[in-house]
Parts: sequence; structure tokens; C-alpha cells
Amino acid sequence: MTITEIKSTFDVEIDACASLSELQELKVKYLGKSGELTALLKSIKDLPPEERPTFGAKVNELRKQMEERFSAASETLKANELARRLAEERVDISLTTCTSRGALHPVTLIENQISELMIAMGFEVLCGPEIETDYYNFQALNIPYDHPARDMQDTFYITDNILLRTQTSAMQARLMQRKKPPIKVVCPGKVFRSDNDASHSPVFHQIEGLVVDKNVTLCDLKGTLEYLASNLFGPQTKVRFRPSFFPFTEPSVEVDLTCCNCGGKGCSLCKGTGWIEVLGAGMVHPLVLENCGIDSTKYSGYAFGIGMDRVAMIKYGIPDIRLLYENDQRFLKQFGR
Ligand code: DAH
Repeated sequence: MTITEIKSTFDVEIDACASLSELQELKVKYLGKSGELTALLKSIKDLPPEERPTFGAKVNELRKQMEERFSAASETLKANELARRLAEERVDISLTTCTSRGALHPVTLIENQISELMIAMGFEVLCGPEIETDYYNFQALNIPYDHPARDMQDTFYITDNILLRTQTSAMQARLMQRKKPPIKVVCPGKVFRSDNDASHSPVFHQIEGLVVDKNVTLCDLKGTLEYLASNLFGPQTKVRFRPSFFPFTEPSVEVDLTCCNCGGKGCSLCKGTGWIEVLGAGMVHPLVLENCGIDSTKYSGYAFGIGMDRVAMIKYGIPDIRLLYENDQRFLKQFGR
């Protein structure tokens, strides 16, 4: 082939190259060891000596042009390849099919809020076992086998002595046996009773508070609960103590808050009284302290137990406790952020 022939076939072939591998083959075909252009260079010796320089220069010129075309074609093909991959492998981040987010359960929201407020007041948060011994759930709390207080807390027994705890108060003796005063702890968790109606569920949630130190008084309890109540239900919330009885506290109190629905005027939520009962509390009974090896002449303590389901129902206006346990997405979604 002559220089002109090579040049024109080359022009057609390089334009037809669709991939880098085809381009590479073409390069071998023209510029390789036994390529067309190399053959042409070799034929130089058959020419008369005076024609050789011009011929050589022409072939070299063509080689230079070809090399330039190859590198330009290679750039174009690489760019096309990149553009193709970018288009093909594109991830459509605007897809909306899997973006529905879960929401925290209302009881979890309340547990988090209360825990954070207690932590701010220097309390530790500790959790205990839901399967508990009769000893920690009852006996250590001054509730022996034949005590009538057991009637209100019938539960699910695993053996005669092992049961599903009926109250987070079961953590009190566990804490006092393990830690020396000062003790300042809250224990949130599940508790169980064989109850089931619009305001009672066989499983529900409490958070227990226990403070044991020198000179702890009922005033400390009241101040702590006032801080908690005003942060949970608003600064205007008032706290009222009513005398009550629990075997493990002396004195014992029932704690009411001004109704967050009517502000104390009286409505259907507070049954016209202006007050809502939310927790039981009291000063830790000296016998309970002594049961746990704490000297009741040196130390005193207060304890309280809050029903978190009840707090959630009051705060979010939930009329039936069973709504909390039915897993109805329409109900639960309302608590999404
Ligand atoms: N455990 C009690 C209950 O479930 C509530 C309670 C009352 C807890 C008085 C306390 C307390 O710590 O001092 O009914």
C-alpha cells in the first residue's frame, strides 16, 4: 500500500473504532512491529538513495499524525466510557419507597424524659431483672407471705418463690445490699400484674426512685418531685402529698399533681377534682434499711414509684391503656418526631 492508501484506510478505520480494545488492535495493525507503516519504512531500502529522505520524512509525518489521532481517539473513548458508566450506575437518591421512619413508643418517650430530668438532678439510671424472687419483690419490702398487700399485686408465678415482678420497688433491696450510701438511683422497667381493663394492663411500666443518705427528709422528696412535675407537665404544676400506706415506707404518701388538662379547675380527666394521682412515695421504712444492712439511726431515705404508662396517658391524652400495647401503627405513628 502507498502512503496515501494507508492514510485513507486508516482514516476510515479509526473513525469506526467503538472501543478501547478495537483502538488497540488498530494501533498494532498500523504501528506494530509487523504493521502497515512499519512495512513501509522497511521498504525504504528498495528506493533510490535520493528519494529516501523525502519518503522517510513523509512516513514519519504520517506516523506522527497517526499517533496524535490514536491518543485523541483514546481520550474520546475513555470519556464516553465514563459518561456511559455514570449514567448506567447512577443511584437515584430521590427514591421515596423506604423513607418511612419509625417513632419512639409513648412510654419510651416518657421514660427518656424522666430519666434525663433525674440525671440532671444527679441520679444514676439502673435496670433490674423482670423475673424476680419473692424475697426482693415482697419480703425485703416488709410484705411477708401472708400480708394483705399481696392481694393488690397478684402476678404470674414461675415457681412458689420466683415471679414476674409486680413493682420496680423490687430494686430497692438489691440496690441497698450492693451499694453503700449515698445512694441516688432511678430504675425504669416493666412490671406485671394479673389485671386487664381500660386502665390496667398485665404488663406496664414504672420508674422507681431511691435516695439514701444522712439527713434525707420528706422535703427533699417533695422538692425532687416538684422539679420533675414542673418539667414534665409545665411550670404551673403543683404537687400535693396525701397520707397513705405502703408496707415499705413510713410515712407513706400518695402524690397528686394539678390536672394538666384543666389546670386545676376540674374536668373529666381529673373527675372534677382538679388533681391527678400519679405516684406513690414515702420515707424508706427503717426495717427495710436494716434488712439491707444499713444503720437506720444514721441514715434515712426516700423512695417513689411512678407509673409511666399513666404519665404517658395523662400527658398525651390517651384514654385506654390497651392502646399502648396493641401495636396499631395509626396510633403509634402520631408520636413520630
Ligand atoms: N411500688 C408501689 C406500687 O407499685 C409504688 C411505690 C409506693 C413505690 C411507695 C415506692 C414507694 O417506692 O415508696 O404500687
